[in-house]
Amino acid sequence: MPRTCNVVVLLSGTGSNLQALLDSSQAPGNPAQISAVVSNRADAYGLQRAEAAGVPTAVLSHTDYDGRDAFDAALISAIDGYSPDLVVLAGFMRILTPGFVRHYQGRLLNIHPSLLPQYKGLHTHRRVLEAGDAEHGCTVHFVTEELDGGPLVVQAVVPVDSGDTPDTLAHRVHAQEHQIYPLAVRWFAEGRLTLAGSGQVHLDGQPLPATGHVIRH
Ligand code: GAR
Repeated sequence: MPRTCNVVVLLSGTGSNLQALLDSSQAPGNPAQISAVVSNRADAYGLQRAEAAGVPTAVLSHTDYDGRDAFDAALISAIDGYSPDLVVLAGFMRILTPGFVRHYQGRLLNIHPSLLPQYKGLHTHRRVLEAGDAEHGCTVHFVTEELDGGPLVVQAVVPVDSGDTPDTLAHRVHAQEHQIYPLAVRWFAEGRLTLAGSGQVHLDGQPLPATGHVIRH
């Protein structure tokens, strides 16, 4: 029986990725167990998902703190109260301070709705359509100090259809997020996924390419 990997999830909104992680943590033999969900917004629906699953929640509103450093210090102390092995950003819409990112170096994952390094930031689906790209997707990556930056772990690639709108594309990409995030978290929990000091990601002891592991649809 593998040792449990204690995961803390940070979110700001709907929490559909949290739900995918909660569901996958029920799979037989999955050592990833979500011990807490922390939100910067009291009205985040993801908090209700956590409560329905019996997972403890905490809310820290950034508006209660005097600046990013103070907020991130409080966030670290709330998160570390759960002694996480892994911290997972699941739609946590805050820019993190370098100190926060360094504190969780090698055990901080994010998911982003684009094929990074393309389309960092917001409105990725609309921007992909405006650019006329043939492909779009989502990426799980280790977090570094750069917004939506850091070594890539896994990408899912989907085709862009001629009739797509930002909403239809978002729907297709979201469905893939719900596949690749649980996959990456389970790899980490099983000790198969690591980040070396050089920034190189390894899966099962083998270096991954700069794109991470790519799944095409
Ligand atoms: C997801 O699409 C995730 O990729 C995105 O927020 C959404 C959260 O959805 N994250 C980012 O854009 C990070 N830069 P969810 O609350 O339903 O999981």
